[in-house]
Amino acid sequence: MRSFPAESGWEPGGEPPGGVEASADRVADGGACPWIGACVDRAAATPPRGEVLISLAGAGVSYGAVQALHGVDLQLRRGDRVVLVGANGSGKTTLLRLLHGLIDGHGHREVHLADGRPAVMAMLFQRPFLLHLSVRWNLLLSLWLAGVSASQRAARIDEALHRTGLDALAQRPARALSGGQQQRLALARAWAVRPHILFLDEPTASLDPSAKREVETLIDDFARAGMTLVMSTHNLGQAKRLANRVLYLEAGRLVVDLPADRFFSAELPRGAAQFLKGELPWT
Ligand SMILES: Nc1ncnc2c1ncn2[C@@H]1O[C@H](COP(=O)(O)OP(=O)(O)OP(=O)(O)O)[C@@H](O)[C@H]1O
Ligand SMILES: [Mg+2]
Repeated sequence: MRSFPAESGWEPGGEPPGGVEASADRVADGGACPWIGACVDRAAATPPRGEVLISLAGAGVSYGAVQALHGVDLQLRRGDRVVLVGANGSGKTTLLRLLHGLIDGHGHREVHLADGRPAVMAMLFQRPFLLHLSVRWNLLLSLWLAGVSASQRAARIDEALHRTGLDALAQRPARALSGGQQQRLALARAWAVRPHILFLDEPTASLDPSAKREVETLIDDFARAGMTLVMSTHNLGQAKRLANRVLYLEAGRLVVDLPADRFFSAELPRGAAQFLKGELPWT
């Protein structure tokens, strides 16, 4: 378990004031949302609901004077395919980093056990960070860093290369790959480590349409194989294709948390509805 310094005054591990339970009175009932500033339906987010992997309660992040996230209550569950949407600067990357534990925040964050150990996580960025080594060596080093035993590494690498269609490129310098191939390598690296949760920050933003589709298909495959996903995107078509749960952020607040089918069909708070219209065309 990991808790942030309890700025709000409650004990780490305790029930936060106005936290997960208290927020249940904001839960939407039915197709439309009550207009009290939030549209959060935890009960229905992703049926059937898996076990909780990460919980945030009253969580926030400040960068100096900039408060990038405020009062976020969220439970990430096994099997979730969460897509984060919102305008530039709304806090999507910050939320991904907070969930992953790459940055500290305030409030409460807890990583729960999955298969008897704290959930294993990996993250993919818009532009993957690759070492000046071959594709194979990039995979090998990430497995070494993840503590995978030497006897398992070769098989894991072969499987990851195969799964991402990179078998023929194993000896190529990783940095000489195309953007789409580099992102596939980043996915291979994540796959090889077998994370319970994969965080993806606009993973296809800089790719051409065909590379975008390839990477999207792989992400979908990973989810079908049981990986829990949390991904930010500005591509609402992609959100529709990949998500089973959509979170809309506005100025650092989690304003909408709904199953994907309801997000795209329900009446949403004004800001979210305008955001959706502004992001068209996406059908
Ligand atoms: N390192 C930082 N230092 C100071 N402010 C930051 C830092 N990183 C992010 N911010 C601010 O925090 C807020 C949230 O930023 P964040 O990058 O999380 O938004 P985002 O939703 O991911 O935006 P985008 O769609 O452009 O990627 C913004 O106001 C941003 O300027
Ligand atoms: Mg971002």
